[in-house]
Amino acid sequence: MTKLFAFTAAALLATSAAAVAGDPDKGAKDFNKCKACHMIVSDAGETIVKGGKTGPNLYGVIGRPVASYPDFKYGDGILAVGATGMVWTEELITEYAVDPTKFIDTHGGSGRSKMTFKLKDASDVVAYLATFSAAPEAAEEAPAEEAPASE
Ligand code: HEC
Repeated sequence: MTKLFAFTAAALLATSAAAVAGDPDKGAKDFNKCKACHMIVSDAGETIVKGGKTGPNLYGVIGRPVASYPDFKYGDGILAVGATGMVWTEELITEYAVDPTKFIDTHGGSGRSKMTFKLKDASDVVAYLATFSAAPEAAEEAPAEEAPASE
């Protein structure tokens, strides 16, 4: 990785990352179910997991705005969710993977997901994806950005 992400979403991540306690090693195996459609390729172009192109590259997906991978043709449903400004957290992806179409419905979009796949418990695979995303630990330590002075 050549570039460290410095998303202002760090604060968002910090509040939600702790809630999902998946096992990244188990998740690496679970990812076998995802890689038919998703690859993991670093920003530097290094292939970490070879995968299909039906879905977007999932490198750095946690902390990335929903439906924002360049040049990927997302469906209208998830684009509408992305338009709300939502950023992927571990929790949100865990919820998404259970039922992508329902996720779109409950988060401000409408219409079917183009992801025709469901995983009952995605917490492990999400923990695995987190290892290729802006380090959640670092985010947790980062001071909450511009917290409005409440006094
Ligand atoms: C059958 C193909 C397929 C499989 C298998 C699949 N996906 Fe997807 N995934 C897609 C497609 C297509 C999209 C784009 C959805 C849309 O445009 O509505 C997507 C979108 C996503 C997104 C949103 C990415 C973004 O840039 O906003 C995440 C996160 C995701 N998938 C995670 C997973 C995980 C984790 C697994 C394995 C548990 C998985 N997917 C398995 C096809 C698949």
